[in-house]
Amino acid sequence: MKKLGVNTRLVHSGEKPCPVTGALRMPIYQTATFVFENVEQGARRFSGEEEGYIYTRLGNPTQNALEVKMADLEGGDAAIATASGMAAITSATMAFLEQGDHVVSSEAVYGCTHSLFKELFPRWGINVSFVNTSDPGEIEEAIRPETKMLYLESPANPTMALVDMEKAAEIARRHNLKTIFDNTFMTPYYQLPLQRGMDIVIHSATKYIGGHGDVVAGIIVGNEEDINHIRGTTLKDFGGIISPFNAWLLLRGLKTLGLRMERINSNCQEVAWFLHDHPRVEKVYYSGLADHPQHELAKKQMDGFGGMISFELKGGFSAGKNLMEELELCSLAVSLGDVDTLIQHPASMTHSVLDEKDQIEAGITPGLVRLSVGIEDVQDIIADLECGLDRIE
Ligand SMILES: Cc1ncc(COP(=O)(O)O)c(C=O)c1O
Repeated sequence: MKKLGVNTRLVHSGEKPCPVTGALRMPIYQTATFVFENVEQGARRFSGEEEGYIYTRLGNPTQNALEVKMADLEGGDAAIATASGMAAITSATMAFLEQGDHVVSSEAVYGCTHSLFKELFPRWGINVSFVNTSDPGEIEEAIRPETKMLYLESPANPTMALVDMEKAAEIARRHNLKTIFDNTFMTPYYQLPLQRGMDIVIHSATKYIGGHGDVVAGIIVGNEEDINHIRGTTLKDFGGIISPFNAWLLLRGLKTLGLRMERINSNCQEVAWFLHDHPRVEKVYYSGLADHPQHELAKKQMDGFGGMISFELKGGFSAGKNLMEELELCSLAVSLGDVDTLIQHPASMTHSVLDEKDQIEAGITPGLVRLSVGIEDVQDIIADLECGLDRIE
């Protein structure tokens, strides 16, 4: 059968009407455990001889429906849904690393990813080099004999710097590195890292996948072997699984991912040009602008430019603070990918765990403001920003 379109798969993939009740929607299987018919069946389930559910930390039908849908959307064999984006990152990375290993990571990554790699990994004897992964030469130079993993985020949070996925995957293949890619900002609607050679994709599903700002969750997608390995080690023993209710919220959110992304993408284009042309704005970081240095790469590897913009105001931090506090429609809040427009200050909020030197190296200046554009009427978002910019002292 012809492969169905992405919007059809967002609605249908992974879900079938209940064969017992006919319920169209996937039920929330709010249960911790599953009853065996007899001791032999329990033993067969534990040994893997028989398929079936055992205990919700090891699998649950509502989680499973979400995992099937996400694997299909990202073009992987299988997926795992987790309690948060950070649970996805810890489960996916720690499953493949041991004492003495080395990781090469993008220097501009989400703040808690950075602190996991910089503060916690060394406690377990794992070292991480942070490099500018927009430059393939820097990736190659950082690789050592003990390097096992390349960790990438593109567009990066919050600088929107892009990684050329095909070039990075080619380097990783030559050096036998596992590649893990954070696809939170683009979602599978706009970017498919597995098709460009990455091994594992992770998401903070708290963001566009859920889309409504009402759930914290994560996703890991990859091939059968890698996903089984994660499921049987770090997921099982660290235990960062998703709850059935949160899995259900993500199934619901995903049905409208395409509609939301199209709307957010077009709103974001207009907001980016408005900021670009505004006299109080010094610089806009958004790869959808024709004068962005990575605009051609963005067009090559992404099907849209997404909904995230960072910008610097003339007047640095005090002007940014003024703006963020003057806005009425846009909420001053971290997180992103919601239906509402959110604005925040990375240096003092999402990336405050980085020291000043690491912030500067990652391009996070004191005056940088990050905007997650929502689905509101774009003229209202722009009017709010315009009013705020006019009020800067
Ligand atoms: C790009 C990116 N990756 C991972 C995370 C962590 O996700 P969570 O907050 O769901 O644990 C975030 C959170 O903001 C993020 O922006």
